[in-house]
Amino acid sequence: MQNNISLKPYNTFGIDVNANRFSTFSSIDELKSVLSERKENESLLILGGGSNVLLTKPFEGLVLKNEIKGFEIIEENDNEVVIEAGAGEIWHQFVLRCIEHGFAGLENMSLIPGSVGASPMQNIGAYGVEIKDVFDHLHAFEISTGEMKRFDKNDCAFGYRESVFKNIYKNQFVICRVAFRLKKNANLNTSYGAIENELQKMGITSPTIRDVSNAVIAIRKSKLPDPAVLGNAGSFFKNPLVDESLVEKIKATYPDIPNYPAESGKRKLAAGWLIETAGWKGKTIETRGVHKLQALVLVNYGGSTGKQVLDLSSEIIKDVQEKFGVTLEREVNIL
Ligand code: FAD
Ligand code: EPU
Repeated sequence: MQNNISLKPYNTFGIDVNANRFSTFSSIDELKSVLSERKENESLLILGGGSNVLLTKPFEGLVLKNEIKGFEIIEENDNEVVIEAGAGEIWHQFVLRCIEHGFAGLENMSLIPGSVGASPMQNIGAYGVEIKDVFDHLHAFEISTGEMKRFDKNDCAFGYRESVFKNIYKNQFVICRVAFRLKKNANLNTSYGAIENELQKMGITSPTIRDVSNAVIAIRKSKLPDPAVLGNAGSFFKNPLVDESLVEKIKATYPDIPNYPAESGKRKLAAGWLIETAGWKGKTIETRGVHKLQALVLVNYGGSTGKQVLDLSSEIIKDVQEKFGVTLEREVNIL
């Protein structure tokens, strides 16, 4: 257990605030042991790679960084495998390992930062695929009872950047192992336009799993900032789901507004387009700003406080609301 340490190395925004107490754990026994040292009513933060959090103040409590490792094939037949991975595995390394084995299903989600354990939290997704498409089950430690619980897909209520762990079970479970059902015979999903274009650029007509992964990596590198170079947490906002009538209203002024079919008869708008069209793309305010290549990404050029980034996001929400009548919702966890 460490006292009063800076969380700067543990969040991809690079926000420099302290935590009262900090420990890692690499097994369920170690988790139980550090939790036995938790003070009464002490706040608790379970951290993976810190790539989806904005720390707006010092964390007055106990931060536990998940380092549970593991990669195990727990079920296999001619067509499929189920792989259970430790929650502390680095997501992209796990994806690459599955690709090396020839297991398909995760390749579109290559290069997403963070840990395996956080992937079900917000049902991570990219380029036409979400965790829910390959998720089998997970094992989580219930903090109040000290018991392990299994969650199957139907227990998780996955939605667009949503799950029970972000809502009704927020802060109640520590996800320890996650299992994915992957295919041995690749059934590749290259329907996302950008992947098709990238494969064409690469001169590939019959792509392998690795080709799709490489295409996704190339697309991501071309527009998303590398957190090792520039502080950020990926998309700061969700793409908003709105009623058809609102899309029609906006179309009167902006006939080309991108919009896509979504859950429960709604339409999904591109938050990046709304923010760009409102004039924010590439805008810099002292130490922080809106990324010049992807307007959904807020960046910390160095030295920003979390509160300053949060205030910038509030200004953007207000402006987009005034200009389009659309309320943007933050995707990043604000702490
Ligand atoms: P953290 O930031 O450490 O934690 C996120 C939340 O989950 C916190 O509330 C934390 O308390 C909780 N948590 C973490 N681990 C556990 C656990 N084991 N048990 C219980 N609770 C836990 N996301 C996408 O969906 N698609 C993308 O394409 C994408 N691109 C990104 C690009 C960049 C450059 C960056 C920086 C981020 C991107 N993200 C994307 C967001 C981020 O990568 C994901 O949300 C990722 O799953 C976060 O993992 P993490 O381990 O860093 O989580
Ligand atoms: N767009 C703009 N300007 C911008 C950015 C986007 O006009 O600056 C418009 C364009 O019309 C573009 C459309 O938005 O066609 C979609 O853009 P893009 O393909 O880059 O995806 P996104 O909707 O901006 C989402 C996810 C990303 C994920 C990509 C790829 C959310 C909140 N974001 O971004 O996830 O990688 O799709 O699938 O759903 C993340 O969650 O952190 C993240 C990066």
